[in-house]
Order: sequence, then structure tokens, then C-alpha cells
Amino acid sequence: MGSKITGIGMYVPPRVVTNFDLEKIFETSDEWITTRTGIKERRIADEWVKASDLAYEASKEAIHNAGISEKDIDLVLVATSTPDNIFPSTACILADKLGLKNPMAFDFSAACSGFIYGLTIGDSFIKSGKAKNVLVVGTEVFSKLIDWTDRTTAVLFGDGAGAVVLSASNEDSDILSTVMKSDGSYGNLLHCQVGEKLKMHGRETFKQAVKSMESTSLKAIQKAGIKKEDIKLVIPHQANIRIIEALAEKLEFPLEKVYHNIHRYGNTSAASIPIAMYEAYKEGKFQRGDYLLLTAFGGGLTWGSIVLRF
Ligand code: UT7
Repeated sequence: MGSKITGIGMYVPPRVVTNFDLEKIFETSDEWITTRTGIKERRIADEWVKASDLAYEASKEAIHNAGISEKDIDLVLVATSTPDNIFPSTACILADKLGLKNPMAFDFSAACSGFIYGLTIGDSFIKSGKAKNVLVVGTEVFSKLIDWTDRTTAVLFGDGAGAVVLSASNEDSDILSTVMKSDGSYGNLLHCQVGEKLKMHGRETFKQAVKSMESTSLKAIQKAGIKKEDIKLVIPHQANIRIIEALAEKLEFPLEKVYHNIHRYGNTSAASIPIAMYEAYKEGKFQRGDYLLLTAFGGGLTWGSIVLRF
């Protein structure tokens, strides 16, 4: 049994917060944020909007695009560091909002690597025959974790959700290889204690990000049994344009083959890869049948890469 990506969807809240808006909150500048991060604006959800609300919109579109009905989904996986509650899970709330019929449903936390972990879990459920149609969602309202007086982190993050449907098929799997890693000894680089706000050691996190995404990407390409040149597009986690450029250089990929939309959304954590994948597809950067390399890095530390055929 193989898994196919049959549908994809995304949703971002309508409120745009630009770098110029942030200049009014703390001592920063559009120039600093643009040159150091590549971010121009981000979406920020209204106070009452929850991760499940963003997930609902993205999921509806993904299910519609997959050409199946809500009742066909038998597993809901939600990657989030900003769940609606400790419990019930955001996955259960989402499943209820979508009107699903008693699916397996759970959340998991792998911070910004959540979508890579989620696709791997979904693929494994399908390959082992335990699920037929899996909804994999990355959804975040990081605006709620941010200390809006800390300019070193507040400029970086945004809210949003992305979703894909993975469906069982008798053909070969579209998920060709996955490599996931973690190292808890680096947990203090990027963390958020319960009831507190997000904290990060930016410089060290930057270095670890480039090194780790490079290493799992090379392993994933090798495991997939394809050549680097066969990859149509690299879709990296959108944390900083300088991280994306450094990764492209290390992997020896020309920048045009490495997608970025960080200027529009900032870092949306677990949602960043499915949102980027959605927009790249809509922009015609890849077609059905093309090989993609996805790679992410985040708090934990966690990191990983996937090679897939879209
Ligand atoms: O999702 C995965 C997790 N996150 C990441 O991957 C983020 C990784 N790290 C980064 O992207 C970068 O380290 C940052 C964008 C966070 C920071 O860039 P940097 O080039 O490493 O700057 P820095 O932290 O070394 O700060 C340089 C200067 C400092 O001033 P002094 O000490 O040199 O006088 C900061 O206080 O820039 C100052 N600064 C700012 N200035 C204006 C820090 N934040 C800001 C700001 N506006 N928003």
C-alpha cells in the first residue's frame, strides 16, 4: 500500500502586520527586519481565533481538492505548538468542526518540524494498512506565544495553517523517503515553558538549522534513490531567508529551485511547509509527478527531510 498526496489547502488570517507597523511597537526598522530575516509582513489572528479555526479552513480546502468527502477521513493529525487546549486535542476539535465520523485524531508537537513528522506518521499509518485517508495539518497561532516587547523574536513569527490529504493507493508511495531527528540537549536554544512566552538564542539556532537540514536532506535524497538534479523544487521551513540561502549553498541548489514566501508570512512554524507547498504549486513552480524535497528545523531540537513525488 502506498500513499498519495491527493489534496492540499491553506489558510491565513486576514490581518496583515507589516514591519512598519512593528516600528510603532518597539525599537526596530523595516530595513533591519528585511535584511536580517527577509520578512516584510506576517498575518496575525484576532485574539479569539484558535489554531483549530485556521486548521478548519485549510482542511476544508484540502479535502475538497482531494475529491473525497469529510466522512472518508479516518485519521486526523495536527502538528501544533499552539493547541486550543491541553485537551481535548486540536485534532478532536477540528474533526468535530469538520463533521468527521469517529476518526482517529491526535495532536503532536515537533515545533517547526511538525509537518515533516506529520507526513511521516500519516504515511506510516497508510503503509501499515491502519488508515486510508489521513488529514495532516500544521496550524499555529504563534502570535499568542510571543512577547510583544521582545523585538528579537516578535518580528519573526506569524499565524497560519496548511493541510494535506494523504490517501492509500495500490501504486508505489509518493513519499519516497523520510529522515527525522531530534536532540533534546539543545532544548534551551528555542523554548516556551507552560504559561510563559517564547525565548530563543537566535545565532546558535541559525547555525544548527543550516547544519541539520543539510544533513537530513542529503540522507533523504540518498534514501529516495534519486539524484539531486531530479528534484524540481526544495521547500524548506520558512524561518529566515538567510537560513534558506545558506542551505541552498550547502546543498548546491540554485536559489531559483528553493522556494520561499517568508516575506509574506514570516515563520508560521508547523504551518510553514504546507503553506509554501500550496503557494508554490499554485504559482506553477512544480506539477503533478515532480520530485520535491521538504526540510524543516525547530525547537526540541527537531529536524528532518522528506523526498516525495507530488
Ligand atoms: O523556526 C526555527 C527557529 N528560528 C530560527 O531559525 C531563527 C534563527 N535565527 C535567526 O534567524 C537570527 O539569528 C535572528 C533573525 C533571530 C537575529 O539575527 P542576527 O543576525 O543573528 O542578529 P543578532 O541576534 O546577533 O542581533 C544583532 C543586533 C543586536 O544588537 P547589538 O547587540 O549588536 O547592538 C540586536 O539587539 O541586532 C539587534 N536586534 C534588532 N535590531 C532591530 C535584534 N532584533 C532586532 C530588531 N530590530 N527586531
